[in-house]
Amino acid sequence: MKQIWIPKAGGPEVLRLDQSPDPMPKNGEIRIRVEAVGVNFADIMGRMGVYPDAPAIPFVPGYEVAGTVDQVMPGVTGFQEGDKVLALTRFGGYSDVVCVPHKQAFKRFDWMNAQDGAALLVNYLTAYQMLVVMGSAKPGDKALIHGVGGGVGLAALDICRIIGAEPIGTASAHKHEFLKERGLDVVIDHRQDFGRVALDLTNGRGPQIILDPVGGQLWHKNYRLLAPAGRLICYGISSGVAGKKRSLWHLFKAAVNLRFYTPVRLMSDNKGVLGVNLAHLWEYTDEVRRWMGQIMSWYDEALFRPHIDRAFPFTEAAAAHDYIQERKNIGKVLLIP
Ligand SMILES: NC(=O)c1ccc[n+]([C@@H]2O[C@H](COP(=O)([O-])OP(=O)(O)OC[C@H]3O[C@@H](n4cnc5c(N)ncnc54)[C@H](OP(=O)(O)O)[C@@H]3O)[C@@H](O)[C@H]2O)c1
Repeated sequence: MKQIWIPKAGGPEVLRLDQSPDPMPKNGEIRIRVEAVGVNFADIMGRMGVYPDAPAIPFVPGYEVAGTVDQVMPGVTGFQEGDKVLALTRFGGYSDVVCVPHKQAFKRFDWMNAQDGAALLVNYLTAYQMLVVMGSAKPGDKALIHGVGGGVGLAALDICRIIGAEPIGTASAHKHEFLKERGLDVVIDHRQDFGRVALDLTNGRGPQIILDPVGGQLWHKNYRLLAPAGRLICYGISSGVAGKKRSLWHLFKAAVNLRFYTPVRLMSDNKGVLGVNLAHLWEYTDEVRRWMGQIMSWYDEALFRPHIDRAFPFTEAAAAHDYIQERKNIGKVLLIP
């Protein structure tokens, strides 16, 4: 099999394509011939050596794949050889063959291609967990989505549209035209005063929901901006990442901006602060499968399609990481074995 390894922490150029014998699945697992792999910001942080969940280097990154089942082991139910699937991987997804416990895999519709499959899992599950499960978004709620032009951001935009919440977004300027065409009426350059725009749009009350993948100084600004009974959902800390290699200075700056919200303060402010880390839900597959069932049925009803910006061959994995780190991507970036 072919795999992309992170042999040492560093810039995109450290990524290395290696060949080794195909893995054998264990009982309860299926083996998948991979056709498309999703690239996530967590892979980039893992490569830079700043992702606390990552295994010790060297390791193969990758949280999601789509492909076709070529082996089914005893203990597996619901899958057979030849099934088209998408699957969550606990690292190791940058491979052309993966073995996964069957509960981490989902059947693809015949009309869902592998690229859509690999673009769905992490982005839409994270957005669904934030908006529907934890954020309790309702029709008419104003939701401020930071990084709305990225993978999770666009998924959150789609889900807002489906459930009737009203999104406001921040993104780099070159993404604005695309975002408006996708139905986002209000999009703010991430360097502008998003708070003022959000207050103007909500008669001074602030948004009911704010999705924050950036952290650092934004935690504080977002908390103050929330409407009464609003929810700030923290799910990333991209402000700790600057340049393409680890910067202790940026990590330090993000750390000193950490805020402590005591129960007393939350009570008196009537605000909620929630945290999401999809990768810590491996033991809760039944819940995650239920959420995925809803996402798949929205896909089936053609209520959304993930936007795939670019698909890079495995040999150009470094360019894929560069592309995201240079803030060029709109929606999903994939790797193709
Ligand atoms: N907790 C979870 O379960 C979970 C799951 C998935 C992702 N996440 C987090 O969600 C965020 C988005 O992830 P994604 O995979 O969907 O990536 P992405 O949004 O597709 O790509 C990164 C985008 O983030 C923005 N950005 C903000 N700060 C950045 C920085 N320092 N360097 C580069 N880009 C920066 C850029 O958009 P603009 O230039 O338009 O701002 C860039 O295009 C990340 O923070 C990630 O860690 C968390």
